[in-house]
Amino acid sequence: MADRPIIFSGIQPTGRKHLGIFIGAIRQYVEGQDRGEPAIYCVVDLHSISVPYEPADLRERVLDTAAILLAAGLDPERCVFFRQSDVRQHSELTWLLSAVTSHGDLDRMTQFKEKTGSARELASAALFYYPVLMAADVLAYRATEVPVGDDQRQHVELMREIARRFNGRFGAEGEDTLVVPELVVPAVGARIMDLQEPERKMSTTGGTEQGTVLVLDDEKTIRKKVGSAVTDSGREVRAAADKPGVTNLIDILAVARGVGRPEIEAEFADAGYGDFKKAVADGVVELLGPVRERYAELRPDEAALEATLEAGAAKARAIAEPVLEDVRRVMGFG
Ligand code: TRP
Repeated sequence: MADRPIIFSGIQPTGRKHLGIFIGAIRQYVEGQDRGEPAIYCVVDLHSISVPYEPADLRERVLDTAAILLAAGLDPERCVFFRQSDVRQHSELTWLLSAVTSHGDLDRMTQFKEKTGSARELASAALFYYPVLMAADVLAYRATEVPVGDDQRQHVELMREIARRFNGRFGAEGEDTLVVPELVVPAVGARIMDLQEPERKMSTTGGTEQGTVLVLDDEKTIRKKVGSAVTDSGREVRAAADKPGVTNLIDILAVARGVGRPEIEAEFADAGYGDFKKAVADGVVELLGPVRERYAELRPDEAALEATLEAGAAKARAIAEPVLEDVRRVMGFG
């Protein structure tokens, strides 16, 4: 019992989730439900205001994301699933943690530098402050495990440092108020690459349209995208550093079938790229088809989605509020 992790992860609100996120993150969330005690998953709408956005769209995107996650197998009975802005403790803890976060810490965040480039002066303070909100998300639950993509490594390092500093600065008789969480980067399929440019990660923002398979793509679109995936010179179905296109397709099929690379290589040892791609397309269709169908059932019922998120928020508050009470107390508030 004591060894079960408290898992926390956050996901950005967008309906344009792609195969890389599905494999690298969403499937881990579903698996974490049986391991976590509890597993806590949050649609991070408060983070969205760090870049220009439309308020009316934001609500829609939260519901799109919620429906995708539920369609993929998140079960609100077995996890805590909610919308960040429904739980005020996140905002409050963000401010309180700013006492142990320095300007220099935030100034070192490479994601902020990359996102803003030369337009630093125009970036919102929210974008600069994003990592503190992310720290509050996790620390409010005394989570022990944070499954996220490799690109979030630096943010998790910072939240660990913030927790340690908080405990050092406000430790009541050696009692730690906050828990220092562990980063967990998914091993399988953490790096699903763009089908057209297999040197770069699949992404809805930086990738190619044709090389990015969306979770909600219909069967025809999936077959077209996989069918036109770039392969490499030669005609062997073999994973190798100089064969990024084929390696990526092997990884995708291995995940879809729940096997390793060697099984795929063996099965297609005598096959051409055409047959191989057809098998990959079949695998992706089988992986995503049921999710798309379930999404179509869930998404129209917004009242039910809202009710699910609200019930999750109530569970989240019940965990976070006692932590906030401790934080307020050790910081000298009433
Ligand atoms: N920043 C994360 C991302 O872009 C999303 C996120 C927000 C998150 N808060 C979190 C992830 C807390 C893990 C834990 O993917």
